[in-house]
This record gives sequence, structure tokens and C-alpha cells, in this order.
Amino acid sequence: MATLNEEIQRRRTFAIISHPDAGKTTLTEKLLLFGGAIHIAGAVKSNKIKKTATSDWMEIEKQRGISVATSVMGFNYGDYKINILDTPGHQDFAEDTYRTLTAVDSVIIVVDVAKGVEQQTRKLMEVCRMRNTPVIIFVNKLDREGRDPFEILDELESELKINVRPLSWPINIGAKFKGVYNIFENTLDLFTPDKQKVSERVEIDDVNDQRVDEAVGETDAAKLREDLELIEGVYPEFNVDDYLAGQTAPVFFGSALNTFGVKELLDCFVKIAPSPRPVEAIERTVRPDEQAFSGFVFKIHANMDPNHRSCIAFVKVCSGRFERNANYKHIRSGKMMKFSSPTAFMAQKKNIVDEAFSGDIVGIPDTGNFKIGDTLTEGENIHFKGLPSFSPEMFKYIENTDPMKSKQLEKGIQQLMDEGVAQLFVNQFNGRKIIGTVGQLQFEVIQYRLLHEYGAQCRWEPISLYKACWIESDDNDALEAFKRRKHQFMAIDREGRDVFLADSGYVLQMAQADFPKIRFHFSSEF
Ligand code: G4P
Repeated sequence: MATLNEEIQRRRTFAIISHPDAGKTTLTEKLLLFGGAIHIAGAVKSNKIKKTATSDWMEIEKQRGISVATSVMGFNYGDYKINILDTPGHQDFAEDTYRTLTAVDSVIIVVDVAKGVEQQTRKLMEVCRMRNTPVIIFVNKLDREGRDPFEILDELESELKINVRPLSWPINIGAKFKGVYNIFENTLDLFTPDKQKVSERVEIDDVNDQRVDEAVGETDAAKLREDLELIEGVYPEFNVDDYLAGQTAPVFFGSALNTFGVKELLDCFVKIAPSPRPVEAIERTVRPDEQAFSGFVFKIHANMDPNHRSCIAFVKVCSGRFERNANYKHIRSGKMMKFSSPTAFMAQKKNIVDEAFSGDIVGIPDTGNFKIGDTLTEGENIHFKGLPSFSPEMFKYIENTDPMKSKQLEKGIQQLMDEGVAQLFVNQFNGRKIIGTVGQLQFEVIQYRLLHEYGAQCRWEPISLYKACWIESDDNDALEAFKRRKHQFMAIDREGRDVFLADSGYVLQMAQADFPKIRFHFSSEF
């Protein structure tokens, strides 16, 4: 039987992130194909919200419901146990993605070769940077016309603010795309457009091998050598430690749809990607190989069926071994709890599991005990850090329209916020409640769920806000002076922290200039 440490060392827990349509779903599916978790392409239910349905959030929730099954995908690949954490494609659910990123040890970013770095990718990368998450980049859709790979590398570097190092290199692109030279292993793979089949490998010693010329033609072989020389000249040699420190991102090129360049990516990934990393708690750093179990809730998935008011809380195991029916302490409530039917997802099947190890994700059926960020341990009082809230993009006042149901409304709002659907701020001047979201959809989701799950009715009233910033200062007098001056715009978040509601970019700038002793934060983790 494998030891705890062996179990941990073989685990790779990561997320694939991208701007919608870059190919995240396709790449995920191809990775599952290699892992033998599925046998034919097209078997993965897309977690992608179809574009046509953007105005129909019920449909979206239905699709999200389906996506519970694909929330975590575990499979074995060689000696490795791989856990892919899925992230919602729709940007209105970006907050979900941010939180999922707190539960992974590394990330693969997919970029469309024609579109380059897009807005959503930039934002997600910021979250990775905050945590020094190691990142590998997969430039996708090489079978389509796109941009020059050197240009893409420059853009990745400047837009994502990370050093890049190509570990594979394309031979042409679009209609003339011939294949990829794998710099990491000095191999050559020729492109055969096929959705199911793995590419054809040419046996070569190195790039100067005559067989390269035979395989791709002299002109392209010469160009490839020239490109590689340039790469060696411009980019420092690949250093795994820089990657692990989140400073350098290795880059691969390929076509997910054609299963091309995917195996190379996966093979390199399992070798270099980190096994579960230590996790910071307020009290101390928790190492994955500690014997005692600990973990935290990073996601709560509600059941949209009002007849089954149950949720699944997703727990990332941070240390030790999680066991079914063992007694664990829920730190926030101080209660001991036992879980008789924890689930995990292996090879597309949801099963009740008896045990799980650091790096794994277990789904725990819940009826409202859990809140995002909750810690579970064998008894030690620790609180895992690092589930940041970001300043929402949209704000509305929430008003009760049924005075008989104000209790229900209160409870509903509280539970939905616990689940992380949106953020609540209470204006200290007029006591009104403000809900902040990253997208219009959440307002509809909240209104619907309040009515159907809690029997409460609400209406939205406009408020013109630009950003909510968490403020702090080492100088208490300065802080108080600021709060007095801006008293109409001061709110507190659910943890009671001071939040300044800036109604325009200009006002925020002025406030920053006028109050140099105040620090303004755009995320709650500082
Ligand atoms: P996402 O999860 O990041 O949103 O992207 P997804 O994988 O759904 O891919 C978006 C579209 O790009 C899909 O086409 C998919 O088939 C296509 N695609 C993915 N990888 C490649 C590639 O390597 N080459 C080419 N040419 N296309 C690729 P769609 O038409 O939107 O969807 P579908 O009808 O094919 O499912």
C-alpha cells in the first residue's frame, strides 16, 4: 500500500482557465481521453454556457447543474493521480473561478492563437499572480490561421506579466501547419488532422537531424532551426524552479480539437507541475504531508430544485487523509461532524469514497452548515486563509417587497451570500443593503432563488457605484477622519470590514490623493 507521502507526491490538482471559446472544454476532454477517463471525444458535457442562452439564466443554471458532475474530474495517468477542477465558462460567474483557483496547486491557461490574450484571461492571471500559482500556457487552434508565435509570446509576457519560455514550437500555422517540435524532449510530431487520434511521431536525434528535413521539407526545417536558435538566444533556459515559483510560464503550442500537442503538454505537466503545496492558515502553514487531516470549503453548489434544499460543499484536502465517517471539527461552529457519504469524481463517475488525500477534492452533501472558506480539521483550531473577495462590478440596493416575509428575506440573503453567490455591503449612513456582483445574471439568480427557496420577494433599486474598496490605515485618526468625511459612502462587508463605495473613478482618485495615509484595496485579501 502506498504511504501517505507517496499518495501526495503523485497528485496533481489544477484548473484550466481561459477566455470563453479559447478551447478549455475541448482541452479538458482531450486530457480525459489520455487518462482513459473517457473513450470517445464528445463525452464531456460542456460546462460552457452556450452563447444563445445568455439571457436565459434558468437555462444557465440547468447547465450549471449538469456541471456538478464535471466540477472535479479525477483520473489516473501513469503513476499520477490527476484532479482537474472545472471553472464556469461564463464570465458572470468569475467569482466562482477565483475561488476555485484557491484550491488548485497549478493552472493551465488556454489562449487562442488568433485572439491572443483576452480580458478574462488577464483577470484570472492576476489571481494566479497573487498566489504565485505555477502556470503553463497552451496556445491553441494552430490549425487555424493565427498570429505569429513570437508575437504571441511577446503578448503573453506583456499582458500576463509573466516570463514565458516556449517548450514546443509550431512549424507553420493554419492551412500550412505541419507539426510541433518539442523543445522539452527534442521530439518532432507531425500534424494529422484527426479528432480522435494521437499525432505521428518522427524519430529524430535533435533538430539538426536530416529526418526533420524529410518530414517537413527543407524550407520549413530551415525556418524551424532558425526559430529555435532565436528562442535559445532570447529566452533563458527553462528552469523548473522559476516555473514553480510562478515566475516563468512554459508555453506549448497545439490544437486541442485535433488532439495535437496535448499529450506533450500532459507529459510535461505531470513531470513539472507541483504536487499539493503547503497551505497558509492564519495560525501557521499547513504541510500536505502532515498526518492529521485538514481542509477547507472553496465552493458550494446549490441544488436548483427547491424540493431538495441540499447543497454540495466542495472541500479541498490540505493535509493528511480524509476518512468517511470520521469525526471532524467544523472550526467556525466548533461542532464535531461526521460525513457518511462524501463523494469524489473518478473517471466521470461520482462515487462515495472512503478516503481522500491532500490535493483531492471531496464533495460533502450539506444542508446549510457550510459557508465558503470554512475549515475542517481533526480538532486543531486553524483557519485557512485566502478566499479573497474582489470588488464587484455591479451594485444594486436590495429592497423587501413583502413586509410579512422580512425574516425569510434576511435568511435567504444570508445563505446565498454564504454560498458566495454575491457580496453584501451595508451602507452605514442609511442602513440600506447593497448587493454587489460581477454580472447582471446574479441579480436574476438571487431574486429567483429568494422567491423559490425562501418565499421572499425582493426588488432591485439602482445605485450608481464604480467600485467598492476595502480600506485600512496604520493611523487610526486618519482612518476615522476619512470615514467621517465620506460617511455617506461608507459601508461594512459581512465580516464587518470597512468598505468605501466610490461612485466614480474620479472620486476614487481624489480620495486616494487627499488621504495618502489610507490604503485602498480592490480585493478583501491584503
Ligand atoms: P471554451 O470551453 O474555452 O469556451 O471553448 P471550447 O472548448 O468549447 O471551444 C470553443 C470552440 O473552439 C469550439 O467550437 C471548439 O470546437 C473550437 N476549438 C477548440 N479547439 C480547437 C482547435 O484546436 N482548432 C479549431 N479549429 N477549433 C477548436 P464551436 O464551434 O464553438 O463549438 P462546437 O460546436 O464545435 O462544439
